[in-house]
Amino acid sequence: PELRVPFIGGNWKMFKTISEAKAFAEVFREIPRNPGVRTAICAPFLDIPVLTEMFAGTDIGVGAENVHFEDEGAFTGEISLPMLKEAGVGYCVIGHSERRQYFNETDETVNRKLKKVLSESSITPILCVGENLKQREAGNEKSVVSGQIEKDFDGLTPEQAKKTVIAYEPIWAIGTGKTATPEQAEEMCGFIRETVKSIYGGAVSESVIIQYGGSVKPKNVKEIMAKPDIDGALVGGASLDPEQFAAILNYM
Ligand code: G3P
Repeated sequence: PELRVPFIGGNWKMFKTISEAKAFAEVFREIPRNPGVRTAICAPFLDIPVLTEMFAGTDIGVGAENVHFEDEGAFTGEISLPMLKEAGVGYCVIGHSERRQYFNETDETVNRKLKKVLSESSITPILCVGENLKQREAGNEKSVVSGQIEKDFDGLTPEQAKKTVIAYEPIWAIGTGKTATPEQAEEMCGFIRETVKSIYGGAVSESVIIQYGGSVKPKNVKEIMAKPDIDGALVGGASLDPEQFAAILNYM
């Protein structure tokens, strides 16, 4: 199996104007970072051009937070894959729980988006999965997450599955300050790897990058990253401050 390089991404969600993104980038790109950790900032569409320009020549990736599955058309308010490709993004978050909750994303649309990105670009998708509090309290977290993986990956080739970064984000731990314990996060990331193995076999499951997301901070990242099935993190709130995000990246 290929070595899994740690990958810690930021997801800005609906934060930062263009000038705020620029101010972040000016500070962030100068902070020394551990070269062994891959990173990218996933940002609002309007911030993407300034970030790609300011991170040119660095190893800091830039990602989008969503994409539409059609190339063009009468889809007011949407952004297409050709638009993202021309903007030079390297990553795209797909199926974040906030999009599933508030914007009618379903496993079907997530699957179409994943297929589109993987078959028509070299952009790395970051697929988000995770259960809500009710589902966890009912003891259904595993069936919920394996169901998401099966539907979201439907029809993907092993090569495509391998290129997909999976972010396990328990909804109850997002923006709440309630991190899953490192043990809970590891249990679910290991379970996700098993699910991928049952579909695609060990060569894919041992190569696929699995991140944990949900209240990751400088003070808890080290313990989370120490877990064998957790290869990275997707960081919301703590990615908005350059010093804090750099401290997370420099966990080791
Ligand atoms: O995608 C990252 C995310 O949903 C976690 O957000 O603010 O809890 O780090 P936060």
